[in-house]
Amino acid sequence: MIADPALEFTDVYHYYGDICAVQGFSLELAKGELVCLLGPSGCGKTTTLRLAAGLELLQHGEIRISGKPVAKSAGFSLPPEQRDIGLVFQDYALFPHLTVIENVAFGVRKYRGEEMADEISQLLRTLGIADLANRYPHALSGGQQQRVALARVLLPKPNLIMLDEPFSGLDARLRDQIRDDTLHLLKQSGAAALLVTHDSEEAMFMGDRIAVMKNGVTEQIGRPEEIYCKPANAFVTEFFSEVNRVNGFVKNGKVNTTIGMIDSGNIAGGTEVEILIRPEALRLTRLTNQSVEFGVQALEARMLGYSSLIHLCADGMDGEKIHLHSRMPGRFLPEQNERLRIDIDPNQTFIFPKV
Ligand SMILES: Nc1ncnc2c1ncn2[C@@H]1O[C@H](COP(=O)(O)OP(=O)(O)OP(=O)(O)O)[C@@H](O)[C@H]1O
Ligand SMILES: [Mg+2]
Repeated sequence: MIADPALEFTDVYHYYGDICAVQGFSLELAKGELVCLLGPSGCGKTTTLRLAAGLELLQHGEIRISGKPVAKSAGFSLPPEQRDIGLVFQDYALFPHLTVIENVAFGVRKYRGEEMADEISQLLRTLGIADLANRYPHALSGGQQQRVALARVLLPKPNLIMLDEPFSGLDARLRDQIRDDTLHLLKQSGAAALLVTHDSEEAMFMGDRIAVMKNGVTEQIGRPEEIYCKPANAFVTEFFSEVNRVNGFVKNGKVNTTIGMIDSGNIAGGTEVEILIRPEALRLTRLTNQSVEFGVQALEARMLGYSSLIHLCADGMDGEKIHLHSRMPGRFLPEQNERLRIDIDPNQTFIFPKV
């Protein structure tokens, strides 16, 4: 329970005809907290955000903002403009016939005359777009439009800001920069924020917490490190990184695999399990002639910048070859066909009963 939350969803369901887009969604956002809604296309992220904003009529459950109900299943729904929410969409939705400054000021009645001009120029300076104040949107790059959209949302100082895939139209380098600026601005503003993304790295970069969704269902809610290091299931594990998969059976508290014995935790003996191992959990050591209990063969190795990716071949239990990926920090480039010792880091290895 969060004391005095900025936004609360309680048991929210939403149907489009027969499609259940959101199923039993419950979440509380603390004041100033940034929560990311993360999941694949069609999992119900935008619908959840639209329900909170009042752009979609709530069918079941309740939504409260700053403790006050804004939507209830009984048909009660406060109009969007009375919800004190700032919205940023993927396409920025700037007015084409208004300049940057007019776009930012549009509809804001909080400030008068000079105070308004001061607030806007301060914001534009912070966002690094002060020199664009009199341009029209068509003469702005995607990144610049994004900044204008942010300025427009921040100007009235709402208590709650919702952003739907706000960085998806930007190229990688610019996206990193604008994400960084947005994170600091949101935190400075003190507003609670709900940010929709399908990019797990973005969610980990931006979110104080992350809610992972799949087919309308919330799979897990937690801090980024909790979700990455203790994923609730195979879906969540794989959503955050590529994984190596090994199958097996639990026997005496362990699973005997071709690359090592893996602790089965509290899963009962005899259970068929799948083991998901992140590439960084496969630690390799070069050999100098000694033999090892668990060895693999290097197929290819590439340096990718901060880490090297090594393609490996291990001999499966039943004679088949298993292909694995290991990620080693820095430069680690074994020869083709070189035999390597393999150790598994249990902290990035996850075991689930096979479904
Ligand atoms: N207006 C609508 N009418 C009918 N079905 C809809 C409508 N809007 C969304 N849906 C369906 O509801 C489900 C959830 O859609 P939603 O837009 O919330 O997903 P999303 O997670 O935002 O996806 P994306 O990442 O592609 O934006 C999808 O199956 C979608 O096809
Ligand atoms: Mg969407």
